[in-house]
Amino acid sequence: MYMNAIDDFVTKLPKAELHVHIEGTLEPELMFAIAERNGIALPYASVEALRAAYSFRRLQDFLDIYYRGMGVLLHEQDFYDLTWAYLEKARSQNVLHAEIFFDPQGHTVRGVAFETALDGIWRALRDGADRLGISAKLILCFLRHLDADDAMRTLDQALAYKDRIVAVGLDSSELGHPPEKFKAVFDRARAEGFLTVAHAGEEGPPAYVWQALDELGVARIDHGNRALEDDALVRRLAADKTPLTVCPLSNLRLCVVDDMAAHPLAEMIERGLFVTVNSDDPSYFGGYMNENYRAVADALDLSRDTLAEVARNGFEAAFLTDAEKAALTAKLDAYLASA
Ligand code: HPA
Ligand code: ZN
Repeated sequence: MYMNAIDDFVTKLPKAELHVHIEGTLEPELMFAIAERNGIALPYASVEALRAAYSFRRLQDFLDIYYRGMGVLLHEQDFYDLTWAYLEKARSQNVLHAEIFFDPQGHTVRGVAFETALDGIWRALRDGADRLGISAKLILCFLRHLDADDAMRTLDQALAYKDRIVAVGLDSSELGHPPEKFKAVFDRARAEGFLTVAHAGEEGPPAYVWQALDELGVARIDHGNRALEDDALVRRLAADKTPLTVCPLSNLRLCVVDDMAAHPLAEMIERGLFVTVNSDDPSYFGGYMNENYRAVADALDLSRDTLAEVARNGFEAAFLTDAEKAALTAKLDAYLASA
């Protein structure tokens, strides 16, 4: 199919996003606006200078800038504005459902209350449902570079908000911070009724993916690229239909892959893995959902049918009831019948 036809197909394709860090959707323009109203001086002269700093050789290079960027977020309204901007963008790209990570420890370490972040995000999600018709779930991520006690205290704070938080996850600096470090935290989270996910196999070895499955009991693996190095692990993931939330532009920008043409998404599909496509930190990595779908469609020459299956996987892997999934998948089927 001609590229412009695939572009059009992807643009209108109903999609679910299952791997997006709300703090990673903070666009430079909004970062400057919030910094100004909060009286915070940014170490960049302009939006352009800030964007020019988005050149990363590895995950940690990005994280250093990401944590600094979220430092402008102080008030409930800041978190509302951040989340609302993401939801409008997602809706404009035919994202019907989003499962959104937030990093409360990135805020509480700066003296911003857990509730300030949660209330602002939550109010925007409710407005997103009412005014944009976009459904959303919230996933609390623990920062793995901090210790397990800090994560446990964060879990304590989340217990009062089981109605707002569907799952807990694990993000930040992967190497040197294996999932097993958080086994007790995740055991407790599951006992309290939270679902669990974890970033694993982005930079870390296959052993971290095994640990996420066996020690943390995760329902999905975030990234999972390096699982391909271990045949037994690939068989396990395929047999269990464990969803992988793959993030192509993130992988390119963080040098997890050298070239989009070398992205493992096609190999993952070929080897029977249950993959989804997601944006991760779209403000920092050069694209939202449509740009990620287009990047892999183009570089890997994916067919319309393959792209439709990836979109279907997104709805199937969501933390929704069967009835909710069926309603969303029906919209996908209606689109495919008409496209
Ligand atoms: N990897 C790990 N931690 C993160 C990421 C990521 O891509 N984005 C935000 N926190
Ligand atoms: Zn991520």
